[in-house]
Amino acid sequence: MTPLPSAASPAAGLPRRVGVVGSGLIGASIGLALRRVGVEVLLRDTDPEQVKLAEAMGAGSVWQGERVEHAVVAVPPHAVAAELRAVQVAGIAATASDVASVKSRPIAEAVVAGVDLTAWCPAHPIAGRERGGAASAQADLFAERTWVLCPIPHTSAAALAATEALARACGALPVRATPARHDEAMAALSHLPQVVSSLLAAAAPDLRPGEVALAGQGFRDATRLAESDPTLWSSILEGNRGPVAAHARRLAAELGALADALDHASEASVTKVVTGMMERGRAGRAQLPRKAGTQAARPWGWVGVVLDDRPGQLAALLTAIGEWQVNLEDIGPFEHSLEAPAGVIELAVAPEVAGELVDRLIAAGWVAYHRS
Ligand SMILES: NC(=O)c1ccc[n+]([C@@H]2O[C@H](COP(=O)([O-])OP(=O)(O)OC[C@H]3O[C@@H](n4cnc5c(N)ncnc54)[C@H](O)[C@@H]3O)[C@@H](O)[C@H]2O)c1
Repeated sequence: MTPLPSAASPAAGLPRRVGVVGSGLIGASIGLALRRVGVEVLLRDTDPEQVKLAEAMGAGSVWQGERVEHAVVAVPPHAVAAELRAVQVAGIAATASDVASVKSRPIAEAVVAGVDLTAWCPAHPIAGRERGGAASAQADLFAERTWVLCPIPHTSAAALAATEALARACGALPVRATPARHDEAMAALSHLPQVVSSLLAAAAPDLRPGEVALAGQGFRDATRLAESDPTLWSSILEGNRGPVAAHARRLAAELGALADALDHASEASVTKVVTGMMERGRAGRAQLPRKAGTQAARPWGWVGVVLDDRPGQLAALLTAIGEWQVNLEDIGPFEHSLEAPAGVIELAVAPEVAGELVDRLIAAGWVAYHRS
């Protein structure tokens, strides 16, 4: 993916009137973000309740066919081509973009549907939530997030410029990718994780009554995506069949090899297989940028601190750390203990100060440890 240079001004080339087709989570969030920077937003949806809700939240007003400078098609992937075509046939938008989580398939469908490809820039904001609908919309959903622009050779400079300006106006960082590269990357980074999360969560009902209560933060983290909307995800997975199938097969083969080793291999071989798997996983995770649009950062030192479950504990901890002039890079979730009225919070700091921070915390009476 290629980051784009910063715009001369965030408002450069920004359409003043934007129409949004599909006023659910993404469409209404775009409306909220654009309204905040003074863009007039008009909304439509096949479900009038979503328009009403989005309008009540301040995302725009009902689109009754007025002409707009730019239309954003924020409907499920399978409906993108038809909605683009409808907007163009009505002649109500100068340029258009979409936000679908897959790109190649809607482009192929747009060709078949007779969409004017010059007036359209395929795009995808990499930001979202498990819960869909206008009720979940947020004005800052796209802040500092990547917005992938996938122009095709036909895409006009005007359509590309309007889409880039819109992404920046929503607070996002636009990058460029080809549709095929986008879909390959999303299969690994978004689509397969959704599948795995759903399958992991689906195993929970097989446990005995009461056992699900033993689920720790790991299970909660790994299954967060299982709350996503099945209708939308059918459209996404169906729209990216080949790349998702290839990644699903690779994962199935890796799981099969692990299961075979656990069933039949010697202790030394199991250790080798598990160590290899874990090390490749750690290396992959270390490549994640800390922030959208940035390169992978050096690893942090993680310091865990036990907090009693009473008011003021977190404030006291952060005050102490602030007084020692230690900069916190990140704060992990608070993990409650099931056994005691306490929990653990993990703090990320520069690796070279982690050991000293643990020593100072212990000296000050906290229970603390250093996790490498
Ligand atoms: N949910 C995410 O995390 C996320 C993130 C990035 C991109 N996307 C993409 O954004 C698009 C919208 O997803 P969402 O999460 O906002 O879903 P959503 O269900 O919250 O909203 C989609 C809306 O489109 C409406 N709609 C469906 N067909 C329509 C049609 N033919 N004409 C007009 N309206 C129609 C639905 O009634 C619904 O209100 C999808 O293409 C999705 O792939 C989703």
